[in-house]
Amino acid sequence: MVRCTFNAMKKCLWCVLLLLILIILCKKENELVQRDREDLGTKKYYVQTPNCRIPYVNPFSPEIMKYYKPLKFIPCTNESDLIRVQYDKYLQQYVLHINEHVIHGLLQLNNTPYTCFYQQIIHGEKADDYDSIGDRIYFGQDYVVPVSVEGMLVECRALSPPRVLQKDAFVLVQHQKQPPAAPQEHPRKPSVIMYGIDTVSRTNLRRTMPLVYEFLQSPGWYEMQGYTKVGDNSFPNLFAILTGYFPDTAKAHICDTDIKGCLDRIPFIWKDLKSAGYLTAFAEDEKESNTFTYMKPGFTVKPVDYYFRPFVVALENRTEILRCPGCCMKYCLGRRLANSYIFDYCRQFMQRFVADRPIWGLFWSNHFSHDDSFMPSAMQHKILQDLLNFERDGAFEHTIMIFFSDHGARFGPLQKVPESFLEETLPMMFIHLPPWFRRKYPEHAAALALNQHRLSSNFDVYNTLRHVLDMEQESAVSNAYDCPTCQSLLMPIPEDRSCSQAGIEETYCTCNVYREVKGEWTRRIAHKVIHRINEYLWQRKLNEMCSNLTLKYVTRTEKKDSPMGDTQMVYYRTKFMVNENDAEFFGTTLFNNATEALEINVERISRINTYKTDSKCMHDKIKKLYCICLSELRIK
Ligand SMILES: *[C@@H]1O[C@H](CO)[C@@H](O)[C@H](O)[C@H]1NC(C)=O
Ligand SMILES: *[C@@H]1O[C@H](CO)[C@@H](O)[C@H](O)[C@H]1NC(C)=O
Ligand SMILES: *[C@@H]1O[C@H](CO)[C@@H](O)[C@H](O)[C@H]1NC(C)=O
Ligand SMILES: *[C@@H]1O[C@H](CO)[C@@H](O)[C@H](O)[C@H]1NC(C)=O
Repeated sequence: MVRCTFNAMKKCLWCVLLLLILIILCKKENELVQRDREDLGTKKYYVQTPNCRIPYVNPFSPEIMKYYKPLKFIPCTNESDLIRVQYDKYLQQYVLHINEHVIHGLLQLNNTPYTCFYQQIIHGEKADDYDSIGDRIYFGQDYVVPVSVEGMLVECRALSPPRVLQKDAFVLVQHQKQPPAAPQEHPRKPSVIMYGIDTVSRTNLRRTMPLVYEFLQSPGWYEMQGYTKVGDNSFPNLFAILTGYFPDTAKAHICDTDIKGCLDRIPFIWKDLKSAGYLTAFAEDEKESNTFTYMKPGFTVKPVDYYFRPFVVALENRTEILRCPGCCMKYCLGRRLANSYIFDYCRQFMQRFVADRPIWGLFWSNHFSHDDSFMPSAMQHKILQDLLNFERDGAFEHTIMIFFSDHGARFGPLQKVPESFLEETLPMMFIHLPPWFRRKYPEHAAALALNQHRLSSNFDVYNTLRHVLDMEQESAVSNAYDCPTCQSLLMPIPEDRSCSQAGIEETYCTCNVYREVKGEWTRRIAHKVIHRINEYLWQRKLNEMCSNLTLKYVTRTEKKDSPMGDTQMVYYRTKFMVNENDAEFFGTTLFNNATEALEINVERISRINTYKTDSKCMHDKIKKLYCICLSELRIK
């Protein structure tokens, strides 16, 4: 009786404590939002240098607040974990622990017999797929998992009456066959862990994840506020970071990434890291949109030491998939969020190795922010928890961490606001330097601090990785093939840097001032651009499949501030809708208002609404953007 009341009191105390924490968190979030709103008065530019002015965008402007509604987090399950994987430091092996409390809850009757088994996810020779699912292996309490098992499906069942109690899946970072030697090198090579989320602009991070933003303000973190994308979607942007090439140049000089076998030959940075003694890892969720397999042939040889792809294929094939309301991507795989598998993989990779040897890994989430620009608001506690876990593990004491995205919203409500161009072109980019690194290389930390307010690009990130590989190199490293004037972010960027010096084309250049222009005449620009798209389709003999486009209306036209008169070629940005399926486009073009001469690279025109159904008949990643299939044409 006494114990009972005591327990009840204890529970009550916990409730009060939880409530208090919730209230404090809530208040803090409001304060943060408030503070960011006030910032607007003082902070006008992200970058303000002689050749580059990138305006600050208010994340909470009234235009945006018309569309912005924070979303609620939806858990994949409300049930507690029946099986937990724990790492035994002495055995250096994983152990499966059955939670007795949970099993009793699930069994209802205490002495009902039950059994648990796992099935190994076996991956063989194929790089991008798994081979098979192994036989059932029954296990009891605190079973020691063999080191050969890197992925598993787990299931516990009650025996009478027979029913499934819980299913789960785990992917494990094991010390592979021969534990790779830990080279005790001098000087120590810094590890680099890249935590990436598709489609998050600098502004949208502040708007949707203020608590994460606040975490990223802690000592050792630097925000690259002039970081600008160099390509339209994920592929060219990640490709530039990982290779220093634009895909087109790689096609001309190495091989065509659309052809099977090419990706194996591309000089990815992980190859250099590997030869320099790093252990390497690469993990992505959402198998359909993986960077190297979405409309690309993938790898034929496993590209890195720890390659997640076979597991994501197996998980999507063998676990129950749950999509959140209105989402097209897979939200839950079995009992867990799709992205939690890869960020847990990231955590394990660091837990296993980061204190002992140089490691590099890219952990990239495609799945939630891509569907809905505001979904990060529902994910913020999850992401913050990842970062707090890394901190608790001590990872930040050792590794450089890059927390970043590839681009901002390319379609959806953020394309409707006046600042849409900056929303799209300025992805978030935060770099953490561990304390030992800052002590050892104060000049590099100072350079990074300075570069926070200079224009930077994906090619600089590539050069930074090269620099990290060989810190003792004296001169500024310049290795990105497609941007000879790019450099390491750990060296001061010249103050007079312009977009072309950073490898950023005018189409994505955030430095220049454009002003809105109005009037009937602006339709002429859109007409001409549409004409070019039609020509593009005809030249490629796609007219039997794709409809010609015709202008419906112009949404917005902007003209670049230019010292030249109006009789010259001047840059314009035009955003318009066509009659065919109401497709929307955005292009940057040189246009002469007097002669109507126009210059544009059609493949740089962005498609700013979803084209999934419109372009079903087309299987080329780029041509898809401009093709409204005749078969899908909605006649009005
Ligand atoms: C979890 O519980 C909430 C609140 O009771 C409920 O709305 C939700 O549907 C449950 N989720 C699942 C996956 O069972
Ligand atoms: C799982 O993979 C098998 C073999 O490749 C395939 O036949 C099956 O359709 C897949 N199932 C799902 C749900 O994707
Ligand atoms: C479609 O556009 C092309 C290229 O501008 C043009 O040659 C062709 O005549 C157009 N076809 C129709 C049916 O308008
Ligand atoms: C372009 O030309 C039209 C007349 O053809 C004129 O009305 C308009 O103001 C001009 N625009 C600019 C930016 O010069």
